[in-house]
Amino acid sequence: MNTPSSHFSEPIPRRGSLACVGMGMTLGSHLTPLAHSYIVQADVVFAALSDAVVEAWLRRMHGDVRSLQPYYREGKSRMRTYRQWVDLMLDEVRAGKRVCGVFYGHPGIFAWSPHKAIEKARDEGFEARMEPGISAEDCLYADLGIDPGRYGCQHFEASQLLFYERRLDPSAYLVLWQVGVVGDRSLARFATGPAYRQVLVDVLAQDYPLDHEIIVYRGATLPIQTPGVRRIRLRDLPGDPLTAVETVVLPPAVALKPNPAIQERLAAIDALEADAGR
Ligand SMILES: C[S@@+](CC[C@H](N)C(=O)[O-])C[C@H]1O[C@@H](n2cnc3c(N)ncnc32)[C@H](O)[C@@H]1O
Repeated sequence: MNTPSSHFSEPIPRRGSLACVGMGMTLGSHLTPLAHSYIVQADVVFAALSDAVVEAWLRRMHGDVRSLQPYYREGKSRMRTYRQWVDLMLDEVRAGKRVCGVFYGHPGIFAWSPHKAIEKARDEGFEARMEPGISAEDCLYADLGIDPGRYGCQHFEASQLLFYERRLDPSAYLVLWQVGVVGDRSLARFATGPAYRQVLVDVLAQDYPLDHEIIVYRGATLPIQTPGVRRIRLRDLPGDPLTAVETVVLPPAVALKPNPAIQERLAAIDALEADAGR
């Protein structure tokens, strides 16, 4: 039986916890106060950032920042790397540490490990949460002057458009992520070339004219940079010097098509409600 003195002398082991936070895209300006407080209060910080300079900035906030970047390797499946990231974070949570995973942009957008790590931590009874960040998507709306509410906006991982039969709506914006590795079935390459992008163009050409103007976009990651905006024809995408940190935007190619049947139905409801109100 515990005596009062033995009860007070035994330290209560602290439960580990996990917070996956976003660093935003641009160094120095996108980190939210809440994400910052998770970083400084953590026992250990894991980092998957876009830029060595951004990582150096994070190291000024915390003395134990462990980079996740070295786990990437050409020829090694990214899924293996992402599972390792989850294990690294979870091992420290299980050891009773307050763990903070810092990911560039938004930690939940086109990012497998933060979602998985949070799911696993919660399944094991630990406190785990995600703190949003400013993503490439947010920067794109601002830099390109796009309001996704105007015509609607579809987002796809570029390879998914090739591996699966998807339906596109060319009256809305289309945002394609990870075009730099489009068609990579191994998940182990850092880049795919023009032949793969030509397959993407052929698939897109079912819904878009080949001379449709598309945008290759790169948001600034350093405050000294300006956003990269290249307007090219869809047919020229295979030969474009596209990098892994660019996103492709297809503006609408056709006008919104009115739906008279639904509009009539709504008009009939309007009329009924107006009658009822009289
Ligand atoms: C693994 S996802 C990570 C996205 C990130 N979590 C976010 O919130 O923006 C990588 C993809 O994000 C996009 N991306 C990354 N950096 C970018 C940048 N500086 N500008 C535009 N798009 C970028 C590209 O489509 C790239 O293939």
